[in-house]
Parts: sequence; structure tokens; C-alpha cells
Amino acid sequence: MNRLVVLGSVNADHVLRVPHFPRPGETLTGHSYQVVPGGKGANQAVAAARLGAEVSFIARIGDDAIGQQMKAGFAKDGIDVSAVELDERLPTGIAIIYVSDEGENSIGISAEANGALSPAVVKVHETMIADAHTLLLQLEVPLESVQEAARLARSHGTRVVLNPAPARPLSAELLGLVDLITPNQTEAELLTGIKVTDEASAREAAKRFHEMGITDVMITLGSQGVYCSNGKQQQLIPGFRVKAVDTTAAGDTFNGALLAAELAGADFHDAVRFAHGAAALSVTRFGAQSSIPGKQEVDAFLQDQAAQGH
Ligand code: RIB
Ligand code: NA
Repeated sequence: MNRLVVLGSVNADHVLRVPHFPRPGETLTGHSYQVVPGGKGANQAVAAARLGAEVSFIARIGDDAIGQQMKAGFAKDGIDVSAVELDERLPTGIAIIYVSDEGENSIGISAEANGALSPAVVKVHETMIADAHTLLLQLEVPLESVQEAARLARSHGTRVVLNPAPARPLSAELLGLVDLITPNQTEAELLTGIKVTDEASAREAAKRFHEMGITDVMITLGSQGVYCSNGKQQQLIPGFRVKAVDTTAAGDTFNGALLAAELAGADFHDAVRFAHGAAALSVTRFGAQSSIPGKQEVDAFLQDQAAQGH
């Protein structure tokens, strides 16, 4: 009954650590090259599962070793992988990631098998979507498929959560099917036309989202925290300060953690605080899925922060 369905991408992340991002024409010597499990859909599914949610994942991988390995990893995290399907023609999706010594990243992706997650494939999993409490979507699979999933969810009374990442322009039709949207500043600006820099501009952007028919809005404002609005109440909930090693998948961890907490019955303030804690921990570690903490760790971190007055 309280199941979360995540529909989205699986990527093999090819990560290289660099002293700074290469400039046009520059060849840079990096270090610590690794291939690790990533993809916004997969990261969010793993975060929600590690943090206590019952999760089913709808995705497409290639017929290759890395895809199979990642699928086995999802199952190990307790995710229902019955809808993680194998594409016989395409390889598993990839991301090429530079991570700077400051922990910032720069990412290029190629959809590969993620691009074959078509609306027809989504429709096959209608019952899974109908039976779930919440459907969580991002934008690394075809937009028609995101829209089809949102439409099916809406028609069955399943809550639709959209993390509109990476930033892409979206139709009014798709946005009108969303119950909760969780953009960062760039994504909020692209979708509303309002440059979001602080609480006041976040309030304006949230107002636009409400006008589009979206009930709940959470705009992440980097170090300033998350601006939350349900149209009646607004609140800026600050995050935690940590030393950044690698921010990759911090947003994904936030989204997965938020829904895990909500589905476990937390009120929205506690859910956001829990999500902030999980995201903060993920930032202190290397990689996407490799950096996502478990529930006990997040609880301990939050207790520690509370003891220090945060
Ligand atoms: O959000 C982080 C993810 O974005 C990475 O894991 C990479 O695969 C890209 O999709
Ligand atoms: Na990380």
C-alpha cells in the first residue's frame, strides 16, 4: 500500500577526479578513475530503499555486464527489480563525470537503453503504478514516457512526484499532472522564467508552479536550504554544513530520502530534515550510489546535529 515506484534512468558513471574542470582545448591529467553505479532514477530508488521505503523500479538496462551488475545491486538493496528490463539492442546508459577537488561535478550523459523506455513499456507496468502510493519521476528517460507514467498514476490516484532534473523545458500538460515538484534553482528558473536566488524569488517561482496546478513545491536553494510551499504555508528549511568530497547524487539522495520519510509517516518538516541529513552525508563520500547512507546513519547524524544546536 505504501509502496514507492521510481521510474527512470540507470547509468554507469565513469568518474575522473580532476584538479579543475578542463577548459576548451585543454588536456588534463586526472586521477582515481572509476566506473560506479549511477543514473538519477537508480540513485533515487536506491536512496529510498536504503532509507526504509518499499521500492519498485521501472527502468531499462543494456545487455551488458555493467547493466546486470547494477540490477543485482538494486536487488541487494531490497528493490523490486521485476520491471528493470533488458534491452537487446542498446548498451546501458552512461555518464562521463569530472569531480573537482572541491567536490563539484560536471556531467555529460548518453541515454542508450534509457532512451528505449518508451510509453508502451511504461503502459505494461500500469498495475505497478496503480498499486503504489507514490510515483517518483526524473527527466533522463523520454519525456513522452514520463508523461505517460504521470498520466497513468493520476488516473489511478497515485501521487506524482517530479524531480525535474536534468533541466529540460516541459509541457503544461505534463506539469499539470504533478502533485509535488522538487526543482533546484536552475530547473525552477527554466520552468517558471523566474531567476531563483533567494527566499523571495523562490516564493515567486513557487507561486507560478501552483498556478500550473502543482499542489506542493520544494525548491532546493543549495546552501540556503529548501523552500517549501503548499500554497497556504511557506517555509525555508535550512540544510547542514559538511565538508564536500563529491556532491554527485546529493539531489537524488534528497528526493529518495524525502519520500522514504514521508511514506513512513513523517510530517513534511521532519521529512525535509531527514532528507537534508541524508544528502549531507552523501556529499561527504565519493560516487553516486556508493555515497548514499542507510537509515541508522542518518538518524545518528541528525541526533548529533541536534546536540550541536542545528
Ligand atoms: O544525479 C546524479 C546522476 O546524474 C549521476 O549518477 C549520473 O549518472 C547522472 O545521471
Ligand atoms: Na556523493
